Amino acid sequence: MPKDTSTLTLTGVSKTYPGAEIPVLRGVELRAGAGETVAVVGPSGAGKSTLLHLIGALDTPSAGSIRLGDIDVTALTGAALAVYRATRVGFVFQDHHLLPQLSARENVLLPTLAAPGGDPARADALLTRVGVAHRADAFPAQLSGGERQRVAIARALINGAGLLLCDEPTGNLDRDTGTGIIDLFLDLAAEGVTVIMVTHNLTHAARFTRCLELRDGAPVPLEVMA
Ligand SMILES: Nc1ncnc2c1ncn2[C@@H]1O[C@H](COP(=O)(O)OP(=O)(O)OP(=O)(O)O)[C@@H](O)[C@H]1O
Ligand SMILES: [Mg+2]
Repeated sequence: MPKDTSTLTLTGVSKTYPGAEIPVLRGVELRAGAGETVAVVGPSGAGKSTLLHLIGALDTPSAGSIRLGDIDVTALTGAALAVYRATRVGFVFQDHHLLPQLSARENVLLPTLAAPGGDPARADALLTRVGVAHRADAFPAQLSGGERQRVAIARALINGAGLLLCDEPTGNLDRDTGTGIIDLFLDLAAEGVTVIMVTHNLTHAARFTRCLELRDGAPVPLEVMA
């Protein structure tokens, strides 16, 4: 399904925020090919959200390299940086971040506004894919929490991104609804989408291909499954 099926590779990634003495991340290594699912776990403050921001090129590491296929993510500037953020990665947050005055379909189309050619048919196809086609005309306030997250996932995929960066996407959902979202991530991964997900839920983490545990910013690699 995604246009882009490049492998994500992090090598020796470290991050020290300006003015801070202690690094938030130290020597993080990660490799995720198309369709792989990686759970990022660790205590509050371990640097999990920071790691997603670096992969999404919202911030730059202090050392190390981040590559998506042949793209050197940390070297991107100007138009190339904007294209990467808009088309190569999709973010899903704990809060859905949908605009309340737009319908589900319009929210999904929002990221296409910067690049002319947004296709309502593609939005509807994605809403079908994530299981909420029947709610396309509803506004966020009329949707359940799980439905809102499904719309947010469709929005993250509308520009063809092959890499989903999810920060505690089930954090606000009850157990069964959260399990349904994880089921959806695994289905999308089977179609080639790479999913990197921060979670505090170890049951969810165990269903992913791999688990990256961060402790004091450093990785504790742990193979949950072969
Ligand atoms: N923009 C920033 N400037 C300075 N320090 C920051 C910034 N963002 C995060 N930090 C600090 O970096 C550390 C890691 O933050 P981060 O948000 O990555 O942790 P986390 O693992 O996502 O935690 P949580 O599970 O609570 O979401 C924290 O000590 C935080 O205060
Ligand atoms: Mg966080």
